[in-house]
Parts: sequence; C-alpha cells; structure tokens
Amino acid sequence: MEQRLIDPFQRAITYLRVSVTDRCDFRCVYCMSENMTFLPKKDLLTLEELDRLCSSFVRLGVEKLRITGGEPLVRRGIMTFFDAMTRHLDSGALKELTLTTNGSQLEKYADDLYAAGVRRINVSLDTLDDDKFAKITRWGRLPQVMRGIDAAQRAGLRVKINAVALADFNESELFTMQAWCAERDIDLTFIEVMPMGDIGNEDRITQYWSLKDLRARLEERFTVTDLAETTGGPARYIRLEETGQKIGLITPMSHNFCESCNRVRITCTGEIYTCLGQEGHSDLRAPLRASEDDAHLETAIRAAIGLKPKGHDFDYSRQSVDGQVSRHMSHTGG
Ligand code: GTP
Ligand code: 5AD
Ligand code: SF4
Repeated sequence: MEQRLIDPFQRAITYLRVSVTDRCDFRCVYCMSENMTFLPKKDLLTLEELDRLCSSFVRLGVEKLRITGGEPLVRRGIMTFFDAMTRHLDSGALKELTLTTNGSQLEKYADDLYAAGVRRINVSLDTLDDDKFAKITRWGRLPQVMRGIDAAQRAGLRVKINAVALADFNESELFTMQAWCAERDIDLTFIEVMPMGDIGNEDRITQYWSLKDLRARLEERFTVTDLAETTGGPARYIRLEETGQKIGLITPMSHNFCESCNRVRITCTGEIYTCLGQEGHSDLRAPLRASEDDAHLETAIRAAIGLKPKGHDFDYSRQSVDGQVSRHMSHTGG
C-alpha cells in the first residue's frame, strides 16, 4: 500500500463516504427543502469515475466504504458499481462495503447487495407511525420501507436503524422503537439533529433533543452499560442489559467526537468535503478528468486531506443556529 492518508491533526483517514446521487424519492424535512433543484445528470461522476476515485482511496488506506446519496439506490446502474467494488473486498484491502439508505428500494436490491459483499446496512427511519412517517419524509410510504427491511433481513443483511432524535416528534416513540428493534434483532442508533440547510431555520433548535436526555430516559427503565466496541463510525454504543440489545448514540452536538474522526466525504460531482460540519471542500473531478494517471489524482486527494479542519462549529448553546452549514445534508449524504 502507498503511504496512508494522515490529516494535519494526525488522524488516519480510513473511512470514505461516497454520495452517488443528490436525488432522493423522499424529502425528509431536516435533510432537504421541499423544492430542491437537482443537479443535471451530466455533472455527476460516471460509475467508471466513481470506481477510479474509490479505488484510489482504497490504495491510500481506506478500509471502509459507505455509499450514500440522496438515496443511493435510485442511481441508475448502481449495482454495477457495487459489483465493481467487490474486488476490493476480495483482495482484503477493503474491510467493509456498505450503504446508508432510506429503505424504499431494498425489496428490489437486497439480494444483489448481499451478492456484492455487503453484510450490514443502515436504514434511516425516524418513526414507526404511518402518518408521522408520511409527514417527516413529506411523501414517503412506511409499508414500502418495512417490506424493504424484511427483504434485507431475509437476504442475510444485518440491519441498523438510524433515527434522528427529534423533540416532540419521536420522543414519545423511544420505547416503542427500542422494543420493535429488539423483537426483530435490528440494531438501533439515534442521531442528534444538526443545523444544516435552510439557513436560519429555527426548527433545528426547537426540534433538538439531546441524546444525554434520551440516555437518561433509557436509564429509567434499563441497566445501561457503555461498550468499548466501535463500527469505525461516529456512534458510541451502549447495551441495555435486560434485553441484551445494543444502541448507538451519535452526539455531534452534546459530545463532539471530532478528535477521533477518520472520515471524508465525496459528493456525486466529485467534491471532497473533509468535514461534515464545515463548508470547505476541494474538487477532485477536474484532476480525475484531466489525466488518466492516478498519481495526479492521488496528489489532489492528499492536498485535500491536508486541509481537513479540526472539527465542526455547530452550536445550539446560544439558542441560535450559529455555526450552521448552508448546504443540505443530502449534498454530502450525512
Ligand atoms: P456505522 O458504520 O454503522 O457506524 O455507520 P455510520 O454511523 O458511520 O454511518 P451512517 O451513515 O449511519 O451515519 C449516521 C449519521 O451520523 C450521518 O448521517 C451523520 O448524520 C452522522 N455522522 C456521521 N459521521 C459524522 C461526522 O463525521 N460528523 C458529524 N458531525 N456527524 C456524522
Ligand atoms: N441532522 C442529523 N442527521 C441527519 N440526517 C439527515 N439530516 C440530518 C440532520 N440535519 C441523517 C439521516 C440519515 C443520515 C444519512 O443522515 O436521517 O440517517
Ligand atoms: Fe469529522 Fe467534521 Fe464530523 Fe467532526 S464534524 S467528526 S471533524 S466530519
């Protein structure tokens, strides 16, 4: 392997998140605005370009590759790309190939994903109530997602639900979701809502539900043990001793985890964002297209990693959306 990617704060970059499309068949309120303008298809990296870019990162030490969107499974031909990445699993260079999905297309793709070497998937799901689901996704249908989750489990994929913790929305469902996941042997992770998109949107403040509070609620009913294990992502895990169930907590707001950050993100047009919570980014599409020589591209990747900031500036403490990032979460896929 070539010399690994190390950022200015001595963090090794081993986790790449790649958005393959900015489009989505849902419009979750905290992720997109109602009237999104999508990019012209010609601006997107082709599947071949995505392959070349990801393969360069794998050569530079990336061991975990997560495909995101928008909704990654609405990108036409996406399975060709997953199939191409299988070779990096087979060679042992890549330890995990996975995706974060809204679940709407899983009925169609679960078996193909398993065949490509995917073993674990994260499904974004904030509520188990049909009406609330339709409201938060603006036009999603919960039964379709439920069928997708069933198909994924039947295919042998380990499923983790990602729920954004939202005050006055899913607070009341904490124990319903916990029990539902325990019953189905599904992992569950909660995420604190981050102030991104629609600048000045006060909803983020009023919706914010600290996972410190969520944990305290769990402790009223269960014995909660902290776990040392990690999936290489930002979640810290706890176990509910009475059910044996593992729950992940992603706490960018109440307990920043930037110090141990190991990841960068590529957008579907080939920009690299070295921090989710900052606007700074560099272009990799031009170097990708300028030369067939991967050395050129790798120089551009190293230069971008050299600009990775220490962490985000999100801040709800002043009851304002200070530090808000104007791009929508869907741009970088979380
Ligand atoms: P696992 O492999 O299961 O650990 O997945 P993951 O948590 O790495 O990926 P997932 O797509 O499920 O990420 C969940 C969410 O956590 C993302 O969509 C973001 O909202 C948030 N998140 C992930 N990485 C970061 C990060 O580096 N910084 C911040 N602030 N939030 C992050
Ligand atoms: N804050 C926190 N998480 C978010 N997600 C989308 N927008 C936000 C936000 N503003 C989550 C989605 C999904 C993942 C890709 O990011 O619910 O699980
Ligand atoms: Fe890494 Fe930035 Fe996320 Fe912090 S906010 S964990 S530095 S990507």
